[in-house]
Amino acid sequence: MRVEYRNSTGLLAVIGDPIGHSLSPLLQNTMIRELGRDDLYLAIPVKRGGLPDFLQAARTIGISGFNLTMPHKQDVIPYLSDLTPEAGRAGSVNSVRIRDGRMEGHSTDGIGFRRALQDLGYDFPDRIVTILGAGGAARSIAMTAVDSGARQVRIVNRTPEKAEALCAGEPVMGAWPLTRAEEALGDTDILINTTPVGMEGAGQTGGFPFLRALKSGAPAVDCIYAPAVTPFMAAARELGHPVANGIGMLVYQAIYAYGFFRELEFDGETVARLGKLLLKASGVEHSGDQ
Ligand code: ATR
Repeated sequence: MRVEYRNSTGLLAVIGDPIGHSLSPLLQNTMIRELGRDDLYLAIPVKRGGLPDFLQAARTIGISGFNLTMPHKQDVIPYLSDLTPEAGRAGSVNSVRIRDGRMEGHSTDGIGFRRALQDLGYDFPDRIVTILGAGGAARSIAMTAVDSGARQVRIVNRTPEKAEALCAGEPVMGAWPLTRAEEALGDTDILINTTPVGMEGAGQTGGFPFLRALKSGAPAVDCIYAPAVTPFMAAARELGHPVANGIGMLVYQAIYAYGFFRELEFDGETVARLGKLLLKASGVEHSGDQ
């Protein structure tokens, strides 16, 4: 895409490793142009351990805000001046705003996932939500589900201790080992995959044989969007479930992140309009179909 900048242009970025295939610059620069704002958003490779150097450089050259992806979402926390309640609850930061040299961390992953879920015609209140995986993405989504009134939030994970740690102190949450996944799925209303199983290039193997126990008609939503139809989606679709990939989560977390960077309160109509625009710009369909 064509981007324009002037001497006055604000600088935003995404950092991570790997970062080369990130869709964030495309999404953010499309949104910036649509909103008529004077910002430019870049992808900057920063390896694990490279945060202190990057943070110093960001202050020096006047970066206004940045997003973080693997492997920095948790590692950045000790360097920040403040966390928003959402970031504190998620224990993870995907957006940092820099003002007067102070760095404030926020997480838009959970709210981004929920907004994408609403696009598909589902929502958390009063639902039994089951999440596969117990990493940062699982935590962000789980806390948003709890805080928006889910009836139960179940964490199903290969390492049971990690699931138990995530559920500690949360009365509506429960931990399940992967070996007992089928028991968790029979009355599950919404199933979410946050593990990297099936992700392009992740080299993770594993299947989803327990999907056959999922409550009839329950949606199965992946956080992965490459490939557009993930193995998780293909398996669930085969069993007749509605499915979606993670492109909606990516798009909406980006919209809320830009709002955070620039202190803009987008109304529902603006979020919906930007969502449509960015989903189209991404070139990926929710359903994975072309
Ligand atoms: P993120 O922060 O993006 O959510 P993460 O912290 O690496 O990623 O978490 C990945 C989750 O996927 C973990 O819960 C991991 O399970 P463990 O806690 O047992 O490590 C889970 N995961 C990764 N590979 C998996 C596999 N092949 N089968 C099942 N679960 C897997």
